[in-house]
Amino acid sequence: MTTADLNKKPDDVSGMFDQVAPGYDRTNALLSGGNSVLWRMATVRALNLLPGERVLDVAAGTGTSAKALQKTGADVVALDFSPGMVAEGRKRHPDIDFVEGDAEALPFPAGSFDAVTISFGLRNVQNPQLALGEMYRVLKPGGRIVICEFSHPPAPLVQAGYQGYLKYVMPAVTALSSSHRDAYRYLMESIRDWPEQSVLSQWMRSAGFTRVAYRNLTGGIVALHRARSPEDSKVRESVGQRRKRPASPSTSSVSIPIQDS
Ligand SMILES: C[S@@+](CC[C@H](N)C(=O)[O-])C[C@H]1O[C@@H](n2cnc3c(N)ncnc32)[C@H](O)[C@@H]1O
Repeated sequence: MTTADLNKKPDDVSGMFDQVAPGYDRTNALLSGGNSVLWRMATVRALNLLPGERVLDVAAGTGTSAKALQKTGADVVALDFSPGMVAEGRKRHPDIDFVEGDAEALPFPAGSFDAVTISFGLRNVQNPQLALGEMYRVLKPGGRIVICEFSHPPAPLVQAGYQGYLKYVMPAVTALSSSHRDAYRYLMESIRDWPEQSVLSQWMRSAGFTRVAYRNLTGGIVALHRARSPEDSKVRESVGQRRKRPASPSTSSVSIPIQDS
């Protein structure tokens, strides 16, 4: 099978997801010990969607995350670049609008959505900062973003238990439930190499978002980051100007801990 390495070449990542598409949700539910349902509920709650609002679910996969959003009465667009995941999603949820497209070059005009979300997707994108810039672009002024992603438990004991789970339990479970062990090895390595909460917060600020905050779920195994696109036209203009300037290397590694209640 196609195996994605941590250079996350888009064709490899897309090919890998094409192949796991039919069994993806079942294996995930098993691996998360049922917690994925709670993480999805927390994501939907954090978005605070109103009926009729337009929400974009980036890296929507088979549409499980998009389906949970649709239940709020919001108008959902589900985007993914894996043809296999999109085909599976259209089969399962014919009432959801699926779009095949790349998170790094979203096929929508600026200011198209009231809210944008991405669940367990940003870690797989080759250039997550570029994708954050795109999500900023397609949001209306004042629009909300919520990112649900695996993260790093701050408590040493939880961290140690989680490392043990990733190293010993997950390979055993995937060997039983999935024929695509390589894909889950990639999952494990990509979780390990994903930056911690404060770094993702800083990336979001660098993309232009304001009111950036995060909340740890399940002890920090998952983190929910949320923010807003600035409403003030002067702030938006200065973000645009900053984007045109080459990035200073010092800003990408600054880690500012911010946490909401
Ligand atoms: C782990 S799945 C998550 C699916 C869904 N959001 C969920 O919560 O179940 C990650 C998805 O990210 C998609 N993906 C990775 N890189 C992408 C990119 N650059 N553009 C669009 N989708 C991407 C993959 O095709 C895959 O379907």
